[in-house]
Amino acid sequence: MALPPILQNLPLPIIGSPLFIISNPKLVIEQCKAGVVGSMPALNARPAEQLDEWLAEITETLAAYNKANPDKPAAPFAINQIVHKSNDRLEHDMALCAKYKVPIIITSLGAREDVNAAVHGWGGVVLHDIINNKFAKKAIEKGADGLIAVAAGAGGHAGVKSPFALIQEIREWFDGPLALSGSIASGDAVLAAQAMGADFAYIGSAFIATEEARAAEAYKQMIVASDSDDIVYSNLFTGVHGNYLRGSIEAAGMDPDNLPEGDVKTMNFGGGSAKAWKDIWGSGQGIGAIREVVPARVLVERLAREYQAARRRLALG
Ligand SMILES: Cc1cc2nc3c(=O)[nH]c(=O)nc-3n(C[C@H](O)[C@H](O)[C@H](O)COP(=O)(O)O)c2cc1C
Repeated sequence: MALPPILQNLPLPIIGSPLFIISNPKLVIEQCKAGVVGSMPALNARPAEQLDEWLAEITETLAAYNKANPDKPAAPFAINQIVHKSNDRLEHDMALCAKYKVPIIITSLGAREDVNAAVHGWGGVVLHDIINNKFAKKAIEKGADGLIAVAAGAGGHAGVKSPFALIQEIREWFDGPLALSGSIASGDAVLAAQAMGADFAYIGSAFIATEEARAAEAYKQMIVASDSDDIVYSNLFTGVHGNYLRGSIEAAGMDPDNLPEGDVKTMNFGGGSAKAWKDIWGSGQGIGAIREVVPARVLVERLAREYQAARRRLALG
């Protein structure tokens, strides 16, 4: 199956993934201008009314950029909607996405037919994130256009599956748009995701260490200084298993090697988990590749260089 037109001919097969609290219009705009799909969670706009201003800023800035650069237009942008029942802003935020005809909606934590139908109503594309093949089938049955396979080692809420297993199982029955998420932070890994059968690499943690990211300086520096040994997988902080920086757990006075179990009933994405994410810093395992804090454009340029070099090394042109 061909990719939807909006996802065809991107300069790089990369989606900058949504990061709770951290993604903001400046980061999204720089990602898109650099040639990767930029995204942010709708919930990052607080209060909710701010989403209107943010969507206006992104839409107008990218339209002006495309007018000035018709030969090298920006990549499209995406908004992430948490469709879990604890998100009491969903209706409000979806109405604003309809107003601005947001080209791509990324849905997380549940699959909803009404949300998918609404996005299709304004000509948008829905990508839904999943951690196993069962959820993948359910998402497509409910009308999502594409999937984001969140494998082991991803930042934030992550699965436990090897990317090889997950992509292979999904590709047995699904030939639509498929992104791979989890520990991708080099151009070589982007090419590997494609070789495995994915269309796109979905990259989160690497963008935390960018100048535009709305993260504390100490958080950015901890990403730079850490590697996969410093990532702890726990369900304590939101009720759902995710990957976090060991140093931030220690700084909060807890022993990362002896964390109690969390409770899924405490899961709350309408704002309740914001405090946890402010103090306990999420990150995937791929951050060994992150050596400095740079503008998002510079990070994308590095990924592009490495991706092209990997293609040449494998004689792929
Ligand atoms: C700090 C942080 C916050 C995140 N917040 C969200 C979010 O709000 N919504 C979402 O769908 N995914 C969220 N994610 C998951 C990412 O979108 C993506 O799946 C993941 O970062 C990819 O793995 P990587 O970090 O190893 O690149 C978050 C990840 C991190 C590290």
